[in-house]
Amino acid sequence: MDTKLFHTDDNEIAEAGEILRNGGLVAFPTETVYGLGASAFDSDAAKKIYAAKGRPSDNPLIVHICDKGQIKDIAEEIPESAKKVIDNFMPGPVTIILKKKSVVPNDVTAGLNTVAIRFPLHETAQKLIKAAGVPIAAPSANLSGKPSPTKAKHVVKDMTGRIDAIIDGGECNVGVESTIVDFTGEKPVILRPGGVTYDDLKGIGLDVEIDKNILHSIAADEVPKCPGMKYKHYAPNAEVTVVEGEKDAVQSKIKELLEQTEGKVTGVLTMYGAVYDKAVMLSAGSTNKEYAKNLFAALREFDELGVEVVFAEFSEKDGYGLAVKNRLYKAAAQRVIHV
Ligand code: TXA
Ligand code: MG
Repeated sequence: MDTKLFHTDDNEIAEAGEILRNGGLVAFPTETVYGLGASAFDSDAAKKIYAAKGRPSDNPLIVHICDKGQIKDIAEEIPESAKKVIDNFMPGPVTIILKKKSVVPNDVTAGLNTVAIRFPLHETAQKLIKAAGVPIAAPSANLSGKPSPTKAKHVVKDMTGRIDAIIDGGECNVGVESTIVDFTGEKPVILRPGGVTYDDLKGIGLDVEIDKNILHSIAADEVPKCPGMKYKHYAPNAEVTVVEGEKDAVQSKIKELLEQTEGKVTGVLTMYGAVYDKAVMLSAGSTNKEYAKNLFAALREFDELGVEVVFAEFSEKDGYGLAVKNRLYKAAAQRVIHV
């Protein structure tokens, strides 16, 4: 299939909207990562998403809206606690899980009786959903298992020939996927940390918990609340090891590890500046917010540069720390050295 490359002109967005309305697939920018969209009311279109990504069929999609009024069309009820999040953080990098209405096909929710809903802040995303005239089901626009795309070129690499169109809207600002909060249990629970932080949610008086599976791998016999948790994620070809702690200790540990890694192309993802010999160095930025924005692009770049072993400097510094840690630990398949 030919994949059209659009930019953000209104007439191109209108054409992309029509493709979606007619059951096609369009990748589009959001403030978090690029999404791979299809009409959320079209079972066959949803199935095409799973095929294009190679996504396991039990991992549900997020339904994207462009108007808060659409929530009542797809969700059975909106608890008071969820209303607080809707009022304070939508549009924005947050996704809420609510009980679903039957208009949302089972292929979108992977058979669950709940639905994930997100109102993105990105202007192009909002215009596209409006142009489509229907809510848009969209996972991240990467091949399953690869780091999420934060630039159009990442989507071009993974999806060319597999989908109808890609809208190039430049670089994504947040860089990690939305915070997912589940409102279907007794208390709201963060299933995935992201740009709306735990402190942000506490700050509006929400009595919210953090799912215990956020920072480790799921046991083989466990059923996670968020099906996406159990899959290998964000994995570059390189073997990644996180070295976590204060600057001096982290840098001397990584120097030691580099000495021990002979005969391989090595790389370091830096937070504290470039001080290593004989390693490809990419900067993650010095704050966790910058780290979030740069992480996925850096993982893809190490692969392009043929790096085989990556050591990632990390320390938790701000509210974005949990979101970064969650992605970084997964990319490292839980290889973490605390110094
Ligand atoms: O920022 C984002 O959320 C991006 C952009 C494109 O909006 N989307 C995204 O989608 O990250 P995806 O498919 O990569 O991640 C969706 C996650 C998966 O882990 C999935 O298991 C979970 O949301 N999810 C979807 N529906 C769910 C539901 N009803 N209950 C629990 N988890 C759900
Ligand atoms: Mg994803």
